[in-house]
Amino acid sequence: MSPLELRDAETPYEILSAEEVGRIKVLRQRYPQSRSAILPALWILQRKEGILTADGMREVARAMDLPPGPVEAVASFYSMYFFKPHGRYVVEMCTNISCLLMGSKKVLDQFQEQLGCAVGGTTADGMATLLEVECLGACGAAPAAQINHRFVENLNAEKVDQVVTDMKTDKLDLHQLPTGTEVSAHRELVDLANPGANRVPLPAGGAAGSVVDLVKGAANLIPGGEHPADRGYTEAAGAPASEASG
Ligand code: FES
Repeated sequence: MSPLELRDAETPYEILSAEEVGRIKVLRQRYPQSRSAILPALWILQRKEGILTADGMREVARAMDLPPGPVEAVASFYSMYFFKPHGRYVVEMCTNISCLLMGSKKVLDQFQEQLGCAVGGTTADGMATLLEVECLGACGAAPAAQINHRFVENLNAEKVDQVVTDMKTDKLDLHQLPTGTEVSAHRELVDLANPGANRVPLPAGGAAGSVVDLVKGAANLIPGGEHPADRGYTEAAGAPASEASG
């Protein structure tokens, strides 16, 4: 047992549950270098809190048997981690080369107009946050975006109008949108003359990997499992009271 573990052994975790700490400890053993588990461990925290707080990252560091510095350094490097409240929907529009060539600039402008907020901003009602991101790995169906980590592809102005309308009327069913695992499960090469035409249905239940299972936890591996961005964090409201402590 390390000095860090000894120092904190008697102090209860306040944010992470014992079960979440247990999952992080299992994750540590899955990598040749245990600190590689920082990324999925941070996902566990973000799924719990909606954002990464300083206290939460300290608890992740403790579960990782690391000082807080390396955890905070990793967290601040990646754009998918949030340090401040965001909208219920997080729209990440790709403007990298394939999407750019296929008109992502117009699509992004349409998102800004329809949402009424600029890139990097959150709508006044806390409904959505709009971000510009690098390649999402969906170049064959460019221009592409993710909404709460679900893909929307072959976007155009009309599709943006529909998506934003569905958000506003609470009709956007995120679980009808494919996940990254599902998008990458295509069994055929993209038909360059007709991109997006040969997508195949996915196996029931998808192909969740074991690290994903550990991040989400067994209780969340159900259709309709909650995404942190669905938890209703807004600048005005802050964290739901029920999640104020672990
Ligand atoms: S360039 Fe947009 S998904 Fe690859």
